[in-house]
Amino acid sequence: MSVADQTVVRPARAVRGTLRVPGDKSISHRYAMLAALARGRSTITGYSGGGDCASTLACLAALGVGIARGPDGRVVVDGPGRLRPAAGPLDAGNSGSTMRMLAGVLAAQPFTTTMVGDASLSRRPMRRVMTPLTLMGARCEAAEGDRPPLTIHGAALHGIAYTPEVPSAQIKSAVLLAGLQASGTTTITEPAPTRDHTERALRWFGASLTSDGPRIAIVGGQTLQPADCRVPGDPSAAAFWAIAAAGLPGSAITIEDVGLNPTRLALVDVLRRAGADLTVAPTDDWQGEPVGQLRIVHRGLRAFEVTPDEVPGVIDELPALAALATLGGAIRVTGASELRVKESDRITALVDGLRRLGADAEELPDGFVVQATRPLTGGSVDAHGDHRLAMAFAIAALGATGETAITGAGAAAVSYPAFFATLDSLRA
Ligand code: S3P
Repeated sequence: MSVADQTVVRPARAVRGTLRVPGDKSISHRYAMLAALARGRSTITGYSGGGDCASTLACLAALGVGIARGPDGRVVVDGPGRLRPAAGPLDAGNSGSTMRMLAGVLAAQPFTTTMVGDASLSRRPMRRVMTPLTLMGARCEAAEGDRPPLTIHGAALHGIAYTPEVPSAQIKSAVLLAGLQASGTTTITEPAPTRDHTERALRWFGASLTSDGPRIAIVGGQTLQPADCRVPGDPSAAAFWAIAAAGLPGSAITIEDVGLNPTRLALVDVLRRAGADLTVAPTDDWQGEPVGQLRIVHRGLRAFEVTPDEVPGVIDELPALAALATLGGAIRVTGASELRVKESDRITALVDGLRRLGADAEELPDGFVVQATRPLTGGSVDAHGDHRLAMAFAIAALGATGETAITGAGAAAVSYPAFFATLDSLRA
């Protein structure tokens, strides 16, 4: 049931079924941006239907890129060969990936662009991309030197060797996209491994780059070739169903055509440690991205820990993992202060929300503890405009004794517009 932006989730005994999840959000952004930089026509199928990836397409269209959307996530991108100045500020909506990665594209353009975002994005840190782009020769301005609106005065860039302070695929991608268009070689050394979709996508669009352990190097001045691509299912969307199945007795879920890139699969290890029965079966390779089937069968839960070194690999899945620990077992997460600068403060909002539903949950400065000492009661909870919180609360609600009303549940549409309809179709 949905009234205004409130959705009521009823408890479920189990979830069962076979499904596909939306096209990967991270990969969709990258294919769109690289297609925009290549001169000529690229065709993307399975493009994410979420609001974030629509923001990327709208920004690219405003920069003179031809964009036509068809059914089944088909997007035809006509790269003009040269971007043109936008008539006004670009609106990145709720999408940090759009703003941070586009900053890397814009840093090399011979014009100035301002990017704005919604209330949530306007609170998020941008200095992390401004610093390397400034070192490369662009001029960047933001409110309090850190927050959107973000203005990028593009310039002729030169390569740098850079080590970000925080492990972040968005920073890495902004630097590589700027490096592609810079003179000389740009090298980035990751403080911890992060998703490598940009590296794989750059190769698919014809660029060469070298990886040596944590160090990735790209020679500037390479031209991209248009390409056809099919976006794998998003493992971070699949995570919600994997976790529901892991948490509810009698559940079994199979997810087809889902991305199985190893930099996105740390969740599998964590869930196995929590007691879940998971099978990962790669079947294909799409543009250098492994794709296949994920099957999850309920087998009981035990207490588990997510350590600081594991956090970058499951950063987007931590809200759902907290929900899992309301269904059985317990979770302790540390070293995850990045959660505080996501679409919401995901530590405070998550712990607060789960407590409102009756959970035994405790906030730590850099993480949280949740224990399934009693079943949730259900009740009312606010998603704080954060898509992953809306979906995590819905999964927790499945194990409650009563109904749960989620305010701001519409935020799920940022990455998974059909989330609540799919949830109803999986109820056993
Ligand atoms: C993303 C990287 C991660 C992740 C975000 C998507 C990406 O952010 O949380 O949802 O597509 O590169 P950070 O790079 O800030 O860690």
